[in-house]
Amino acid sequence: MPEASKKRVLIADDQPDVLEALRLLLKPEGFIIDTAASPAAVLEAAGARDYDLVLIDLNYTRDTTSGNEGLDLLSRLRELDELLPVVVMTAWGSVSSAVAAMRRGARDYLEKPWDNRRLVSLVRTHVELGRALRETSLLQTENRLLRRAGVPELIAGSRAMAPVLTLLERVGPSEANVLITGEHGTGKEIAARTLHARSARAERPLVIVNAGGLSEGVFESELFGHVKGAFTDAKADRVGYFELADGGTLFLDEIGNLPSRQQAKLLRVLQTGEFQRVGSSKTRTVDVRVISATNVDIAREVSEGRFREDLLYRLNTVQIHLPPLRDRPEDIPHLAAHFLKTQAARYHARATGFDREATSALLEYAWPGNVRELEHVIERAVLMAEASQVRLEDLGLRGRREGADRLEEMTLEEAEKFLIRKALARSQNNVSRAAELLGLSRSALYRRLQQYGIDAS
Ligand SMILES: Nc1ncnc2c1ncn2[C@@H]1O[C@H](COP(=O)(O)OP(=O)(O)OP(=O)(O)O)[C@@H](O)[C@H]1O
Ligand SMILES: [Mg+2]
Repeated sequence: MPEASKKRVLIADDQPDVLEALRLLLKPEGFIIDTAASPAAVLEAAGARDYDLVLIDLNYTRDTTSGNEGLDLLSRLRELDELLPVVVMTAWGSVSSAVAAMRRGARDYLEKPWDNRRLVSLVRTHVELGRALRETSLLQTENRLLRRAGVPELIAGSRAMAPVLTLLERVGPSEANVLITGEHGTGKEIAARTLHARSARAERPLVIVNAGGLSEGVFESELFGHVKGAFTDAKADRVGYFELADGGTLFLDEIGNLPSRQQAKLLRVLQTGEFQRVGSSKTRTVDVRVISATNVDIAREVSEGRFREDLLYRLNTVQIHLPPLRDRPEDIPHLAAHFLKTQAARYHARATGFDREATSALLEYAWPGNVRELEHVIERAVLMAEASQVRLEDLGLRGRREGADRLEEMTLEEAEKFLIRKALARSQNNVSRAAELLGLSRSALYRRLQQYGIDAS
């Protein structure tokens, strides 16, 4: 095979014998193999040339098995190149590392000791897939915020969800700005995607912005863009989210956390439809439909003076409230079956159903983290299950119920604090890990820690 058409694979492990074994295995398959013995060496190599695939171990320093080094490395690689396929090797039986790695964007995982045939076929598949993805993405406008991927299926057969479905149906095709409210993980984003997909703007971009997570310093430049030289770091012109969403939909997530100065700036644009890039005096106009979402009680934010009423009226032409999962138990079996199917396919697992005990546990549990928590529980169960039926113990729900009972007597704020403390305890005060357990972004968790005066050190 000519050298140029050969695929290049980078392998990383701190054990020389593992590197050697993998090299001997993959070289005869026509791959060019580079090796690295530390995360730093991987980043250096990946920064220096293009690879078709990177295969990394999760643990580097001897005697650690947490996988944290590998997970960090994975995130850094993703930052470097979103489309670079990364496959991770995990210690045998360490389900949680595999889950964490897949959540951070690993394409697949392999347990050590590996099966040679599976390893080779997995490397081949992801190299091919990776090339195909790169080609497709070259054709698309290069911006990862433009997520036009198909709308995920919305499961909502329960009576509590009927008004939501009606609204999505009626309001979707309109041009109305919509505010979506609901607790964490109730499906606000999936509702926003559904609205966009049903609108005349469906072929145009849906741009998703975590509005509550933008710091004061970058807010304007992110939303409205800037011109080269507008400030020290402005090395080139930058298009803002509003312009990216032109003709399409802008989804402003976590709007309830928007600080008041930024509320004023946003209001101005929504009133006039006009804005300027930072550092430019040229007035630009865009045609954007705004969908926003929040899990805070926005009416209370308004009455307590934290959220501008005039801005709320611009945003909530129509308001859609997503009920918590505990108020729509009929949906649980359907959601569980749906997640079981998708996760089993993703992990090549064989689970196809739940046994009786597991089913009733799913129904009884209070689901403080709503649909997202259910999805995570099923994801884990898919990996734990040894038979085709998921059993009660695979769900790992036991012991959580006590807390869940008490949760019903708490205010939302008390419950939030309670869950945050619990997640911190479970993760030994590792904020990133706690955020993951809570289904929050790291910055969203930090904000809450500040708000509630919780010390995570
Ligand atoms: N009705 C549903 N049918 C199928 N999947 C759902 C449904 N509701 C939520 N999901 C899935 O559950 C997960 C959480 O949903 P989503 O991200 O939309 O929630 P959210 O309300 O935006 O949460 P947060 O407030 O934490 O941002 C997603 O993976 C989503 O696809
Ligand atoms: Mg969300």
